[in-house]
Amino acid sequence: MSDRTPTVLVFDSGLGGLTVFSELRTALAGARFVYAADDAVFPYGRLPEDAVIARVTAVMDRLIPLYRPDVVVIACNTASTLVLPALRSRFSTPFVGTVPAIKPAVAQTRTGRVAILATPGTVRRDYTRALVQSFAAGIAVELVGAVGLAALAERHLKGEAVDPAAVLAEISPCFVDTGGRRTDIVVLACTHYPLVLDLMRQVAPWPVAWLDPAPAIARRTADLLGPLPPSAEPEEALAIFTSGAGVTDALRKALLARGLPRLGVETMGALVH
Ligand code: DGL
Repeated sequence: MSDRTPTVLVFDSGLGGLTVFSELRTALAGARFVYAADDAVFPYGRLPEDAVIARVTAVMDRLIPLYRPDVVVIACNTASTLVLPALRSRFSTPFVGTVPAIKPAVAQTRTGRVAILATPGTVRRDYTRALVQSFAAGIAVELVGAVGLAALAERHLKGEAVDPAAVLAEISPCFVDTGGRRTDIVVLACTHYPLVLDLMRQVAPWPVAWLDPAPAIARRTADLLGPLPPSAEPEEALAIFTSGAGVTDALRKALLARGLPRLGVETMGALVH
């Protein structure tokens, strides 16, 4: 173990990775954190796969030499289900990804019917479909691609009004009842969705368990880093944005409340292609 304070780079297309960052801060209180949001391109869920790979690689090409992280947490299912092999072969830095928590959902369901609530991109991935094939034999799995829920979650985080009916429209395909056999687990397979958990609970047709893998991701990251050096001196976490255009006062307040007092902009324009 080195006695340098380790740096953890937490990356998402937008603000959803904050749900993972909160857990990481608890698990790794002595680490230095940089939270990076690719707000110039958000949302990733609508992008073709080659565009996501090119963009995340370009962002990492910029951020890894700048911040020299000891670990990078890709706090985005839409990216992790696609880009991890490319990133791991390009950089020596370890990467922790966020992928749909299908295994724990299968272990916990009592009705044998679960839903995976994700972006349209994550739902389309071969990776996601292979997870279902491998781990959900005999279980009814609803793969639900929510088109606008990540954007609604960003608005809710910034304190803007979100219509509960719009949230219900996004999540209602998760709720299936065939002759009394109802969905009992909804996997939150986009890091934005825990930001609207209160609204989802309010409008859900019936109570379910909402499975958020963020604590498990934080544990995995802490295991990977090992014990922090006693001399580790945490500094105030930094949030950076690739466009910065949406960094309003309301967002500043929300970030401060989540332990991100310092903001920066690392301009990266729009898409690579
Ligand atoms: N937070 C991202 C995820 O976990 C997705 C949001 C987006 O579409 O960019 O999938």
